[in-house]
Amino acid sequence: MALVSMRQLLDEAAKGGYGVGAFNVNNMEQIQAIMEAARETRSPVIIQASRGARSYTNDRFLWHLMLAAVELYPEVPVALHLDHGNSPATCISAIDLGFTSVMMDGSLEEDGKTPASFEYNLAVTKEVVAYAHARGVTVEGELGTLGGIEDGHGSGEVHLTDPGQAVEFVAETGIDALAVAIGTSHGAYKFASEPTGDVLKMDLIEEIHRRLPETHLVMHGSSSVPRELVDEVNRYGGALKPAWGVPVKEIQLGIRHGVRKINVDTDSRLAITGAIRKVFIESPEKFDPRDYLKPARA
Ligand code: G3H
Ligand code: 13P
Ligand code: ZN
Repeated sequence: MALVSMRQLLDEAAKGGYGVGAFNVNNMEQIQAIMEAARETRSPVIIQASRGARSYTNDRFLWHLMLAAVELYPEVPVALHLDHGNSPATCISAIDLGFTSVMMDGSLEEDGKTPASFEYNLAVTKEVVAYAHARGVTVEGELGTLGGIEDGHGSGEVHLTDPGQAVEFVAETGIDALAVAIGTSHGAYKFASEPTGDVLKMDLIEEIHRRLPETHLVMHGSSSVPRELVDEVNRYGGALKPAWGVPVKEIQLGIRHGVRKINVDTDSRLAITGAIRKVFIESPEKFDPRDYLKPARA
C-alpha cells in the first residue's frame, strides 16, 4: 500500500470510534519499531517528522526510509505527516517531498515561539489548506498553545483553546483536523503531580466536540510518561526528575469525545534511552551499535 492521506485514516477512525497514534521519528530504528507494532496490533499509524527531524535526516533519508516502510509493511495503512510546520513554506516543502499530511501550526509565529494572533493563524492556515487540498494532502491546524518548550519549539505559555473561536477557525480554514490546547505540554514534565481536571481540561475537549462533532480533534503532548520508563532510565545512570504525563484513561476519554490523532514522542524517547543505557551499564565491553540499537527498537 502506498502512503495514504491522514484524512483517510482519521475518517475511518471516526467511523470506528477509535484514535490513531501519531509517532515522531528521527531514524530508521524508530520507523521499524512503529511499523512492527502497527503490524502486530493490526493498526493504522501516523508517522510524523518535526522540522528538527527533517533537518536531522536531511529529508531525503527520511523519505526513502518511508518508501521502504510501505514496501515492507504493505498491509499497514500509514500516513507521513509534518509535525508543527512553522510557516506555509515549510508545509509546502513537505508536500512537494511527498508528505501526505501537514500541520500548519499558526498558533505561534514563524519563530515557533511567539503566540500568534487569531488573524495570522487564519491566514497562514488557509494558505496551506488551499495548496494541500489541491494535491490530496491533509491539513491539521492548531488553536491555542501548549505549555513547555521542546528544542526551542513552543511559547512556554498555555493558552487554552476557545471553543467559540474553534468553530470559526474550522469553518474559515477548512482544515481536516484541529489540535486543541487543553493544558498538556511537550516533553516529560507536563504536570507536577497526577493531573486533575484543574490542569488537564478534558471538559474542554468535550465542549469543543459538542460544538464541532464532525471535526477530527488532535491531542498534542499525549505521552503518558510511564513511571517504569522513567525508572529504567534512572536505574542505568539517568537523571530524570519525577514526571507525570497524560494518563491513558484520559486519552481514552478524549477518544470518546472526537480525539482521532494522539501525538507521542517523549514516551518513545524514554524507551529508547532506557534500553540503550541498560546495555551500556550492564555490558560496558560492548561497542557494536547493533548491540544497543536492537534492544532500543524492540
Ligand atoms: O513537537 C514536539 C515533538 O516532540 C518534536 O520534537 O522538535 O525535538 O523533534 P523535536
Ligand atoms: P509528547 O512530548 O507528549 O510525546 O508530545 C509529542 C507531540 O505532541 C508532538 O507534536
Ligand atoms: Zn506537538
